Amino acid sequence: MSQPIGIFDSGLGGLSVLNHARHLFANEQFIYLADQRRAPYGDRTREEVFDYTVMAVDRLLAAGVKGVVIACNTASDVALDRMRERHPATPFVGIEPAVKPAVATSRTGIIGVLATSGTVNGERLRSLISKYAGTSTILTQACPGLVELIEDGLGDSRQTEALLAEYVTPLVTAGADTLVLGCTHYSFITDHVAKVAGPGVAIIDPADAVARQIGRTIRLDGAQGGVRYETSGDAVRMRRQLSEMFSEDAAVYPAP
Ligand code: DGL
Repeated sequence: MSQPIGIFDSGLGGLSVLNHARHLFANEQFIYLADQRRAPYGDRTREEVFDYTVMAVDRLLAAGVKGVVIACNTASDVALDRMRERHPATPFVGIEPAVKPAVATSRTGIIGVLATSGTVNGERLRSLISKYAGTSTILTQACPGLVELIEDGLGDSRQTEALLAEYVTPLVTAGADTLVLGCTHYSFITDHVAKVAGPGVAIIDPADAVARQIGRTIRLDGAQGGVRYETSGDAVRMRRQLSEMFSEDAAVYPAP
């Protein structure tokens, strides 16, 4: 019998990965778990993010998934390696800021990474920079407030543009020609990032690449596609969010 693939994020950000994955693997069943009650993760302690990730992964495994996608940079930084150790028989896909592809394509050699405070101050980004930056300069920018605005359906608002002006403009002024979206939520405000950054600045969103990684990591044997949505937050609210963001009318189930 085929089993579903579990995808987890603190909230709506991982839907950027899910949407690509559904296109690529149309016969697979997915369970999308949003830990909206505890979002945003970016300002939480590492211990908190670790505990929440354990809960989410346990929930997905109890639901019978054949592999887990941690579609959250913050949780991947804190917990991906330890999840792999804890569940050696389960394939995991994580996500990390796309420093390597940015270094390969930047012409100015100056790259901006936009991410949560947790990711900016975390181990993984530091080690990616020391591994791949070479002679490039990597400017990191924590973006507190953006995840909250996106979760509140205000991704298209003046508040979002004002925060982006504060976060993005200094990077571009410093010569960055490439911006890495280091938080899955930012996928949904790519157009605003591009507008604030201005012409000639490339934006790297790894959602598609992460979705492709699912096909290389997790067994694909589904016979009929579909998604079961779960949230630890308000299920009615998430249902409305899915409808507003993607015109999708789907049931949303409560998660612990
Ligand atoms: N979407 C998540 C990420 O990629 C986390 C956002 C948050 O809850 O702060 O980091």
